[in-house]
Amino acid sequence: MRILGIETSCDETAASIVESVGSVSHVKLLSSVTATSLQLHAKTGGIIPEIAARNQLKDMLPVIKEALEKAGIEAKGKEDVPDIDAIAVTYGPGLVGSLLVGVETAKTLSYVWNKPLIPVNHLFGHLYANYIETPTKKFTPIPFPALGLIISGAHTDLVLFTSHTESIWLGGTRDDAAGEAFDKIGRMLGIAYPAGAEIEKRAKQGNPHAFSFPRPLMYDKQLDFSFSGLKTAVLRTVQSQKTLDEKLIADICRASQDAIIDVLVYKTLQAVKQTHAQSVILGGGVSANETLTATLSDTLAKHFPSVCLFYPEKSLSTDNAVMIASAAAFQNHPVSWEDVTADPELYFD
Ligand code: KG4
Ligand code: ZN
Repeated sequence: MRILGIETSCDETAASIVESVGSVSHVKLLSSVTATSLQLHAKTGGIIPEIAARNQLKDMLPVIKEALEKAGIEAKGKEDVPDIDAIAVTYGPGLVGSLLVGVETAKTLSYVWNKPLIPVNHLFGHLYANYIETPTKKFTPIPFPALGLIISGAHTDLVLFTSHTESIWLGGTRDDAAGEAFDKIGRMLGIAYPAGAEIEKRAKQGNPHAFSFPRPLMYDKQLDFSFSGLKTAVLRTVQSQKTLDEKLIADICRASQDAIIDVLVYKTLQAVKQTHAQSVILGGGVSANETLTATLSDTLAKHFPSVCLFYPEKSLSTDNAVMIASAAAFQNHPVSWEDVTADPELYFD
């Protein structure tokens, strides 16, 4: 099955073609095209929804056209239909104006091309970035039960998958998401949005003993997260400094990242213990953090040596359409175009 994926939940306008392998063991990447308005938001410390939506409108059709061309399956004539079996689209959560562009485009193409339409929850999509074979990464089967940790700019959730179609939400953040904590701390330190990758880079030069920040809810039995207390502690530290030089910024980056990673790793291990998960799969922009993946991998190997860790290739950790097409290949639950609506508040069913 060949799927066109469309993703427009935030500032990325993305389209991709994937092909499922076997009776859907994984998917092969045929093309992936992404346009972004990120540079227009870098100075404001967050996404401006109106600007994001306007750019979605501008970029949507050219991005789809390019994805079809790169996969070599574009329609030849005006009456022709591209050689795809289904269209997958993110229908939530996200910014309403951005989501509407992708959803309405996908509905129109589904109607005009007479192709099934598969709506995809963006949060599940992030985890399905682990089921993609690319020219640089071969797929390794992921055993169930699989514990999913979604760590993005807007979400932090633990979800247990017993199969591709059955999952249980175990816990999530009560306030800020992990990526949001990186971004807000970055803003306090004068680091451009999104700050995660730059904080990781600067933390490498930081002294691990210079500061110690709180790890809220870390030892709480429930599998919920909270990062707003950490943010406040960092703010107080920043405000108490006379000036912020490069060394101080590196030390604060190091202590902040250590606190976030400690909480994510501890909670994940607690969830593995409670659920007897056989694998841990990461998804979302924060999974690009190599310090996190190395620490989690080492800690799992020490305490649960039989549990395998999976995380997406860096280019597929942040928002993209490949993961949306991938999730659709596994869920394969087409819906009539009349029944698909954008749902900005979508969470877990
Ligand atoms: O998944 P994503 O593209 O957006 C949402 O769906 O929300 O994730 C973006 C988030 C941002 O908060 C960014 O700061 C964070 O991922 N991020 C990182 C790293 N790279 C991106 N956080 C920590 N370390 C990184 N290397
Ligand atoms: Zn995302």
